[in-house]
Amino acid sequence: MFLPKAELHLHIEGTLEPELAFELAARNGVTLPYADTDALREAYRFEDLQSFLNLYYELMAVLRTERDFEDLANAYLARAAAQGVRHAEIFFDPQAHTSRGLDIGTVVEGLWRALGNSEANHGVSTRLILCFLRDESAESALATLDAAKPYLDRITGVGLDSAEVGHPPVKFRAVYEAAAALGLRRVAHAGEEGPPEYITEALDVLGVERVDHGLRCVEDPALVERLVRDRVPLTLCPLSNVRLRTVDTLADHPLPAMLDAGLMCTVNSDDPAYFGGYAGDNFDAVRATLGLTDERLRELARNSFLASFLEDDEELRARYLAEVEAHTFR
Ligand code: HPA
Ligand code: ZN
Repeated sequence: MFLPKAELHLHIEGTLEPELAFELAARNGVTLPYADTDALREAYRFEDLQSFLNLYYELMAVLRTERDFEDLANAYLARAAAQGVRHAEIFFDPQAHTSRGLDIGTVVEGLWRALGNSEANHGVSTRLILCFLRDESAESALATLDAAKPYLDRITGVGLDSAEVGHPPVKFRAVYEAAAALGLRRVAHAGEEGPPEYITEALDVLGVERVDHGLRCVEDPALVERLVRDRVPLTLCPLSNVRLRTVDTLADHPLPAMLDAGLMCTVNSDDPAYFGGYAGDNFDAVRATLGLTDERLRELARNSFLASFLEDDEELRARYLAEVEAHTFR
């Protein structure tokens, strides 16, 4: 039995497995510049965040219809459920699709066909988080939020992703203010490749409630103290950090030291099709390589539900937390 957990850092476009990419390419008459799935997998050797993003955006060309987004989300939910994920707060990147001529409604409605039935079909509750691409303009982010207005009953919050360095959180002050005024929850990627100052800025300027990655906080003791004091959740993605060379090897990952420091860490998969594992695989890897005790693993699972946006269903959160406490490790 997998430890029950919530996944809080998951890009739905990053769950596109090579087999599904080729299936959708055939269905939509799109030609991929790879001979087959093996050749595509050969391209999964990344130098850094940007080299990954180049492939991530390239493969999105196969996503064209509501059914494509539905199939993508159902494939993820089935795999996540099989690894103990009970609740998933799922990122999507509308600008990566509207820039290719798709309507944002195609994306949201397609994802919702899967997410809206996920508790019944997969036993996984879900929330949807709209991410702005930080290497696009602030105006484009505002236009995206505006285009999302007809779908806000399906969207819980906003996030910020894509190329981090050179695109500080302050660039998106206006759109985060507008999102807050609409009652949306706020998160942002910060401190993955960018400096600790971006984490501080995401908290102070964007008012984020969780920090995605946040890894580089360890370089600033005063920031760590603040994150501990305010119990700010960090959505760490260990296998992603190895594949994108944010850490040299998994054995070098600061997760154990971060937990010892009292940081509210969670473990997530980020882009599991590209980084070698889903949520349970990330838990297994940190257990095997970093020697986390069963109680540390239970803490990570507990944190994931405490940090989730389940304020609209505290009964469900309590049920999940009871599942975590009842779990027996083998
Ligand atoms: N970082 C930034 N942007 C992203 C990521 C990530 O890990 N995955 C998908 N978009
Ligand atoms: Zn991410």
